[in-house]
Amino acid sequence: MADHGMFFLALFLTRALGIAAVLSPDDCSQAVRIPELSFSPSPLSCSVVWSRFNFILRHYYNESIQRMSFILSVNFASNWFAMGFSPTGAMIGSSALVGYISPEGGDGVVKQYYLAGKTSDQVFVHQGNLSIVPNTEVVTLHNQTMYMAFQVDMETVLTKSKKVIYAYGYSGIYPNSSGYIEGPHRATFETSLDFSTGSSIAVASDPITKLIRIHGTVSIVAWQFVVSLGAFIARYGRGWGSVCFRIHVISQVAGYLLGIAGAAIAIQFTRQLSGVVWHNHRIFGIVIIVMASMQVLAICARPKAESKYRNAWMLCHVNLGRVLLLCATVNALIGLNLANNDALLMALYIVTVSITVLAFLIFEILHQRRIKSNRQVSAQSSTTKGISNYEMMQKM
Ligand code: HEM
Ligand SMILES: *[C@@H]1O[C@H](CO)[C@@H](O)[C@H](O)[C@H]1NC(C)=O
Ligand SMILES: *[C@@H]1O[C@H](CO)[C@@H](O)[C@H](O)[C@H]1NC(C)=O
Ligand SMILES: *[C@@H]1O[C@H](CO)[C@@H](O)[C@H](O)[C@H]1NC(C)=O
Ligand SMILES: *[C@@H]1O[C@H](CO)[C@@H](O)[C@H](O)[C@H]1NC(C)=O
Repeated sequence: MADHGMFFLALFLTRALGIAAVLSPDDCSQAVRIPELSFSPSPLSCSVVWSRFNFILRHYYNESIQRMSFILSVNFASNWFAMGFSPTGAMIGSSALVGYISPEGGDGVVKQYYLAGKTSDQVFVHQGNLSIVPNTEVVTLHNQTMYMAFQVDMETVLTKSKKVIYAYGYSGIYPNSSGYIEGPHRATFETSLDFSTGSSIAVASDPITKLIRIHGTVSIVAWQFVVSLGAFIARYGRGWGSVCFRIHVISQVAGYLLGIAGAAIAIQFTRQLSGVVWHNHRIFGIVIIVMASMQVLAICARPKAESKYRNAWMLCHVNLGRVLLLCATVNALIGLNLANNDALLMALYIVTVSITVLAFLIFEILHQRRIKSNRQVSAQSSTTKGISNYEMMQKM
């Protein structure tokens, strides 16, 4: 009786706890407190330069000695990250600082590179045109945020630079010990920097952000909302007879189509990202689509109520459905994390979780009441025990 209810409770608990696990570590409201720093962080001005991965740039131009101080912070994801200065605005010809937390020692590593081209063998370590003030470069990890700090003397290249470019590597991929960086980065972004004052940074918006939001919205509505409600209806709507079955089928097919649309949007924008890496979000996404396809096909291949296979079919269908809902929840959380907890998507996620929890509670209360009154009725008429849900579903 309570088994489906327990499952839904566990599902909601996962969804709610997941929100707590994906909180944003750094923002401009916080002062930088990193002990490794060799210069004072106090006059730094702060801007979010690339919200997708929480790239926050703090910088200060000391005019009397013509020196720029920078502190770049980004979300930690076991990867390298980079900030480059480009004379033309393109990657080619620019000089960049690449930082990461060494997977061996846990120490921060920072090196300058000259980007002569877009292939790994044209990215040269220990070269470049930035005159970094010696012993000011630091890469360190605090509170799940990687910080890269350095000072640069304002001379030729930096003064001529038109753009600042940023890059963010794939999780688990690091430069090897000779500084060679395998393959492309997960994403890049650029902003303009006015070096005449050294103070104003214009932030453009990341074109992919919009597509990520659409993908996230469609996927959350499909799996967290439509398919979850469709599952409740299968459990709680049995008293309504075949109407319940029809609503269940319609909502699950609609959720499935919406889910496919969401995945198609993701395929669309990942094409615009350089490089293909089989990260968890993509793998889970495919597994979910495969399971959902099996569920939809299974509806067509449903044995008749009298069939001896009906029980086995029901067991498969219900359990695969549960696994699917759990996977979809995990994947939504991974996705929210990949989207750097985008406020819009986060709000939508919280709203859908709240609505579904509320619907679940109302359904569950009505359901328990009905069981109670059924018991009373059957006790009064002293007939055989009331038909269980499971038997009722068998008859649908
Ligand atoms: C070994 C490492 C790297 C490889 C193999 C690499 C490769 C590439 C490739 C193939 C593209 C074209 C992407 C596309 O067509 O979608 C690209 C673009 C870009 N890369 Fe890299 N890259 C590397 C490191 C870096 C670093 C360290 C930065 C500096 C922060 C950077 C900044 C950029 C930027 C801003 C773009 C887009 C703008 C443009 O096309 O000029 N890259 N990279
Ligand atoms: C990390 O978080 C703790 C607790 O919120 C805070 O006291 C500390 O200053 C943070 N560290 C940095 C480097 O921001
Ligand atoms: C600028 O540099 C000079 C010379 O090192 C130093 O005395 C001064 O405190 C610096 N200004 C700030 C705001 O850090
Ligand atoms: C910048 O550095 C690269 C590699 O170290 C060098 O080939 C190039 O000539 C330099 N460019 C300028 C303008 O100094
Ligand atoms: C790093 O990778 C490059 C390119 O594959 C290779 O030539 C170099 O020897 C490697 N260095 C180490 C220390 O493995």
